[in-house]
Amino acid sequence: METFSTIKQMRSASREARRRGLRMGLVPTMGALHAGHLSLVRAAKAQADIVAVSIFVNPTQFGPTEDLAKYPRPFETDRVQLEQEGVDILFAPTVDEMYRPGATTYVTVEGMSDRLCGKSRPGHFRGVTTVVSKMFNIAEPDMAFFGQKDAAQLAIIRRMVHDLDLPVKIMGCPIIREPDGLAMSSRNAYLTPPQRQAALILHHTLREMKSAFNRGERRPAELIDVGKHCFQEEPSARLDYLQVVDPDSLEAVDEIAAPALVAIAGYIGTTRLIDNQMLKP
Ligand code: PAF
Repeated sequence: METFSTIKQMRSASREARRRGLRMGLVPTMGALHAGHLSLVRAAKAQADIVAVSIFVNPTQFGPTEDLAKYPRPFETDRVQLEQEGVDILFAPTVDEMYRPGATTYVTVEGMSDRLCGKSRPGHFRGVTTVVSKMFNIAEPDMAFFGQKDAAQLAIIRRMVHDLDLPVKIMGCPIIREPDGLAMSSRNAYLTPPQRQAALILHHTLREMKSAFNRGERRPAELIDVGKHCFQEEPSARLDYLQVVDPDSLEAVDEIAAPALVAIAGYIGTTRLIDNQMLKP
């Protein structure tokens, strides 16, 4: 595996791959890799000739009071895992390499970026779309792989690629869960053992809502009531949002007549976790 820290190195490796007729798959990450990330790497390996993974803890997607400083950065462990997965290129730029002093240009998907996590984390999706479009410009991948766990992020990136005619195919990959149902997340590492147990409430809430849906309930407001009722059973958890939305536009729906996305975010202590599931009539 080759490791690059400069844009110039990454771009020339990508152009060389293209010159040789190889299709590149990019897996953008912020590191602290877990089985969810590795599933993206494996999907990329199955579909592309050459796989690049980026590790970059992107400051522009963190709010001023969020966990940028303490976000885990186990670079060497990540590097070894990627090497073992047979990744071809690791791109790990510094903040100064990605954001040159004085940079004031952002990419924003208007409207969608203010929904779900965008509402409680103002500016978050603007940071994501800015860094992802920069990664696409630098690495020029044929395909890029993102997890469905960040369903809003995936929908917003798809919209950005569509609106800006970016020549990259976006591949969404399923949520990977722990055996007890907790969705894998780098932020799970912040949880103490009792908090880790409490965090299961997100999955349980989604499961309860799915059961009600399977019994025939199609009204989002009723499903959300079921979900909120379940969530309250965990006193140490605080709900941020629980919504039923259109999976492409992220707008709330008033009836589930087509596949709908149930998205939840909640705090366990100071750790903010998200999860989601699709409901398909
Ligand atoms: O999902 C993530 O880890 C990040 O939001 C991403 C896509 C790597 C952009 O920084």
